[in-house]
Amino acid sequence: MLQTQEIETTKGTITNIILSNNQETSVVVSNLGATLLNFKTQDKNGKLQDIVLGFDTIEEYFSNTDTYFGASVGRIANRTETASFSLNGETFQIDKNEGDNNLHSGPNGYQTRVWEVESLDKSINQVTFKLDSPDGDQGYPGHLTLKITYQLTDDNQLKITYQAISDKDTPLSPTNHSYFNLNGHASGSIENHLLQLNASAYTPIKDSTSIPTGQIVNVEGTPFDFRHPKTIGQDINQTFDQLQFASGYDHNLLLDDPNLQTAFATAVGDKTGIKLEAFTNLPGVQFYSGNFLNNHPGKNQASYDKRHGFCLETQFFPNAINTPNFPSPVLKANETNSYQTIYKVSIE
Ligand code: GAL
Repeated sequence: MLQTQEIETTKGTITNIILSNNQETSVVVSNLGATLLNFKTQDKNGKLQDIVLGFDTIEEYFSNTDTYFGASVGRIANRTETASFSLNGETFQIDKNEGDNNLHSGPNGYQTRVWEVESLDKSINQVTFKLDSPDGDQGYPGHLTLKITYQLTDDNQLKITYQAISDKDTPLSPTNHSYFNLNGHASGSIENHLLQLNASAYTPIKDSTSIPTGQIVNVEGTPFDFRHPKTIGQDINQTFDQLQFASGYDHNLLLDDPNLQTAFATAVGDKTGIKLEAFTNLPGVQFYSGNFLNNHPGKNQASYDKRHGFCLETQFFPNAINTPNFPSPVLKANETNSYQTIYKVSIE
């Protein structure tokens, strides 16, 4: 089922879309930022749990530039070193919003914009949002048209599809920045969740700026080895410089086999039995263990503290535009690119 809800805000009318299926699962997405606001599903006792963190009011999403709850991030997710890059012989400067570097494309991110509701398709439980990002927007070249489609299927898959075209070559690495807590958004630490990741390598960071060194390192024998299920907390406090730089996990892992049929990640909430499987055809995932949450006010009077949520941000690798040995995030002029990430829920 698909329903819409109009909300009056200080910046005009916002449209939220509620998609629900025959399994009692539902999501709420908003044309403010093409944001995922709620993701409700039944736990092992049949109780509905909202498994994503978020703000209490829609108004707060206009300034979603700190935690990025549920955000659609673009044009480039993650860090760009020195907030600049060269493309086709030209140098481009973007905003420095994290020291000398850029994080998530700066203060005027796509998650703070009002997107067009381009189409609603009740028969397949689907909504498409569209954003026109002019040439020079955030400092990037080319007029980019980005469409994000959310679809909720009857087998509990939330499919997020990105479709993009630009009139000039431009870097593009969009992501969804939802924080999951499979025990329920207000249930505290995620450290006892089980997690498995089909990722045999990761990109270490230089220091607490979180800029990758450019190396690709095997996870074997490191806390980053999630190839067999273990709790998120098992190795998180190890004395390992990579973990210390970021106060926990906040690193890009290379997916062994990015595809939409085999999950690259499986996580289970220890209290609810809710299982999340994630699929993507993008090459990397930033696994972030919510290290910088600090008693952040959230939905229904919740307070989100350090490690109360985790993100699986599918994307090209951080700083890929400046790192020749990473897969190129460049979208070629007048070519359409399409990426998809699926979050599927069930009971373990
Ligand atoms: C993540 C990033 C973290 C933190 C977070 C937002 O994508 O890797 O370091 O900035 O976003 O609070």
